[in-house]
Amino acid sequence: MFKQENVCLKVPKSQGEKAIVLANKLKIFDKNLKVQSDEKFVYVPLLQTPSKEELETFKSKGLTFQVLTQVFPRRWKHPSSLIELLEGKLPPHLLASLPKSVDFVGDIAIIEVPPELKPYNSLMGEAILKLHKNVKTVLAKAGAVSGTFRLRKFEVIAGKPKTSTIHKEYGCIYHIDLAKAYFSPRLSYEHYRVASSVREGETVLDLFAGVGPFSILIAKLHRDVKVYAVDLNPYAVELLKKNVRVNRVNGKVYPILGDAKTVVRERLSGIADRVIMNLPERALNFIDAACKALKPSGGIIHFYSFVNTSNTFEKVKNKFFRAVKESGRNVDKVLFSRFVRATAPHEWQIVLDVKVL
Ligand SMILES: C[S@@+](CC[C@H](N)C(=O)[O-])C[C@H]1O[C@@H](n2cnc3c(N)ncnc32)[C@H](O)[C@@H]1O
Repeated sequence: MFKQENVCLKVPKSQGEKAIVLANKLKIFDKNLKVQSDEKFVYVPLLQTPSKEELETFKSKGLTFQVLTQVFPRRWKHPSSLIELLEGKLPPHLLASLPKSVDFVGDIAIIEVPPELKPYNSLMGEAILKLHKNVKTVLAKAGAVSGTFRLRKFEVIAGKPKTSTIHKEYGCIYHIDLAKAYFSPRLSYEHYRVASSVREGETVLDLFAGVGPFSILIAKLHRDVKVYAVDLNPYAVELLKKNVRVNRVNGKVYPILGDAKTVVRERLSGIADRVIMNLPERALNFIDAACKALKPSGGIIHFYSFVNTSNTFEKVKNKFFRAVKESGRNVDKVLFSRFVRATAPHEWQIVLDVKVL
């Protein structure tokens, strides 16, 4: 058990309770340490040596006391962080490298482990299971998001070896397989922001729909909408179809497996009031498809991209404007823009909501 030497008040047993109440009132009672006693005295641990005024208060309340130092055991406390739980189990210089954040997708926790902590993967995984009783699996990111389907490799470091789960977001249920189809809980507010900006009666095209977090929420929040949800990844579309069923939005969300450009050209020209382009890596290459999908009278494009110190927000905006012009449309105005999230050191995902005519 962890012990520490601490300043304290030594009072006769008959005055123990009074001393604790008074020290607590003066905000100098150290609640992390256990009060000690012997046959005749009680030892009340204090946060600091009492000031002259505090000593006067003890005296004026009739306490007979001595101030001294003594060793106290710490109270057992449920650890609230990884650092607290792993203190003493990891070399102390590595505690500062512990992941500062954990992502939760359903009953799966995901962490990013710096190289120096890799040998302690399972120790960290077990600690996360202990801290979060509803978590069944802990995954460590084992690479960057990459490839056409925007997938990442994961290593199971504790719990059940699995990558699929059921996740809840804004009242919707999503079947997810992190190894097979893209999903990020860090986009949760963005899904909601865009979904709540949709108006009744709209036709929406979710060009890179994944497992459906924009499309399904739009259909849940609005009575009279039609959402075409396109993705090239067959696993994503399989999950998307399941999610449409479990959220009971059949007849409002239409999943389509295929390449965004081809699908628009063959089936969805001139039908959309709004197009969502959440493929930040490559969305610029699909502006022609988005412009073609909009109704002749125009509509809104939610355009996502990555910016960094050389490819700045301003540069990305200009590229977007140029691509719209080259597609035979015009930007009427930028309705809204923001940094959605940090994606790497000095790199951010951004969004532009643009009215295009
Ligand atoms: C960043 S994910 C976004 C998924 C979803 N919108 C979300 O917020 O979770 C991009 C998706 O685009 C899909 N994709 C990539 N290239 C595509 C293409 N040419 N046509 C349609 N979908 C594509 C990927 O399979 C991936 O699921």
